[in-house]
This record gives sequence, structure tokens and C-alpha cells, in this order.
Amino acid sequence: MSNTLIFANTGPQLSHIIKDHPKETAVPEAVRNMIEAATAYKPNETVELKIRKLDIASGLIGWEEPDGKIVDYFKNKLSFFNPGGMSASELTTAFTKVGSSVGKENSLDRNYGQGIRTSVLYWSELLCITYKNGVAHYVWLGKEELGGNDFQIEIKSADGTDMVQECTGWVVENAQEREYNLDEDFTEVILLGKEANPTQDTFMDPYGKNKLESTLWLRKAIYTRFWKLPKNVKLLMNLNVLSKPGSKKTTGYRDFMTFEECLEWDLPKVQQKPQSCKSSKGSTPRRSNTLLL
Ligand SMILES: Nc1ncnc2c1ncn2[C@@H]1O[C@H](COP(=O)(O)OP(=O)(O)OP(=O)(O)O)[C@@H](O)[C@H]1O
Ligand SMILES: [Mg+2]
Repeated sequence: MSNTLIFANTGPQLSHIIKDHPKETAVPEAVRNMIEAATAYKPNETVELKIRKLDIASGLIGWEEPDGKIVDYFKNKLSFFNPGGMSASELTTAFTKVGSSVGKENSLDRNYGQGIRTSVLYWSELLCITYKNGVAHYVWLGKEELGGNDFQIEIKSADGTDMVQECTGWVVENAQEREYNLDEDFTEVILLGKEANPTQDTFMDPYGKNKLESTLWLRKAIYTRFWKLPKNVKLLMNLNVLSKPGSKKTTGYRDFMTFEECLEWDLPKVQQKPQSCKSSKGSTPRRSNTLLL
């Protein structure tokens, strides 16, 4: 028998932990998890972490509406993609039990085992696709309203036997589109949006409020938590999570520059260019300092 205080059930206490978790921590938690998984998988190499926005093709998740309509294609979902994967049992432990970690030490100054799930699940459903030793699995978590303020987290991928499902075929089929290297293990954590709304752009409207965020929100969330990144970590951001939809350039990646890298960056010389201003009668001509880059 345990001699410590434990939760008697998973009802309102768990709802409170999730509801009270600040939503601003979601992106830093996702990036922190990417760093931890990738550097554990490849401790002696430079690892690339990618943040991008992608559609989720049919054949993985979905449902049937009461009128028979099938919903199985999800557009514009924010995705965090990193080397390092999980087996079915690791994924089950990692994502279906709050307070549990895989391959990490849980303690006050290390990991709580709450991070990504508790910071996201109040306002967005979550999908994790992971590939290890040639086999892929996914887990899909969503919120089920119980009336009033009450809700519970549902493991939508559960089928009565397993909490997580195998999806190797889908991963192989979509490998090119999703930039999966099938020779290596990897994990992708995806924000599906409110009630997995198939049309919610979870980069531009992450909280499902029908209100577009500034395109800077994602970078701000990372800067706020990470002053610098480990030297062997390269964080790459797709142009589709740097600019608004419809901008001219929407493909390709850019390096994310931390504050530390910005300070070390060799800034082009700042030159002073005197500029003659036509003064209106009686006023003193002004000098302007122009930054020439
Ligand atoms: N991007 C990822 N790649 C590989 N494994 C992941 C990834 N994200 C989460 N996981 C796995 O899921 C587990 C749960 O993640 P979560 O962020 O909820 O808790 P934690 O990282 O263990 O602890 P905390 O975030 O509270 O410090 C992790 O321990 C890790 O095993
Ligand atoms: Mg974490």
C-alpha cells in the first residue's frame, strides 16, 4: 500500500491540472520534448528539429458524422517533427498517463511528465505519430465535454484493446510528403485544433477562436523559453509557419536564431548617411540617421 497521497480518481482533479495549465507553455514544451528525444537518440550528431504546417491525409484518423459524411482529411495542422521514436508500449506510457515519462527522470527539477499533454489538451486535440525500428504507431487525444465546466480527456485512438494504433502503411505512403526518413526513428506531434476541426489552421488560429494570431506568436513562444539551444541542435522553421497563408514564398525552411546567436551574429556595418531635408520656413533642418544594411 502506498504511504503517499495519491489521486483517488481521474475526474475533476485531472481536469483542473489540464484547465489551469497556461496555454503559452505548449510550444516551449513541444520544443523541449523534441530536443530531449533527438539528443538522446543521436547524442553525438547534430540533430534537425522541424516545425511546419501540413495537412493530414485520409486514412489515419477521422469519424463519421450522423448524416453519414466521413471527415478524414485535416488541413493546415502545426507539426513538431524530430528524430527519435517510440514503440507502441512506450507511446502508451508516454501519452496516455499523465505524470509519466519515457527515458527521462521524473523529479521536481527535471520532468513532471505533464508537459505537452496538460498544456495543450484544454484547447486543442493532439496527435502523435511515432516510428521506431521500422514500425509506426499513433495516439490521438481529445477532450470530451461532460456538461458545465466538466470535461475529460478521451483517448480517441483507443479501440477497446489498445490505446495506440499501428500506422506503418500510412507512414510509408505519406513519407515523401511529410519528409519522413524511414531509415531512422522519428516522432511528430501535431496540434489538431479544437475538436479536431478539419479546417482550423493551427498555426494561424492555434486556440480555435476564429481569431488569427500574429505570425510572430510561435517564434515569441520559443524565444520566451529558450535563450539558447544546445550546440548540436538545429531548429528549422518552415516558411509556412513564418508567414501568413498566401505569402509569396511558402516552402523551404529557415534556421531559427536564438538570442544568443543573434548577439554573436556579425551585423553588417551601420553607416551614418547624412540626409538633407528641405526645411519649411522657420524650422531647423533635421539630420536623419539611416541604418544602411
Ligand atoms: N517529440 C517527442 N519525441 C519523442 N518522444 C516524445 C516527444 N514528445 C513527448 N515524448 C514522450 O512523451 C513523454 C511525455 O511527454 P511530456 O512532455 O508530457 O512529459 P515529460 O517530457 O516526460 O515531462 P515534462 O514535460 O513534464 O518535463 C516524454 O517523456 C517522452 O517520452
Ligand atoms: Mg516534456
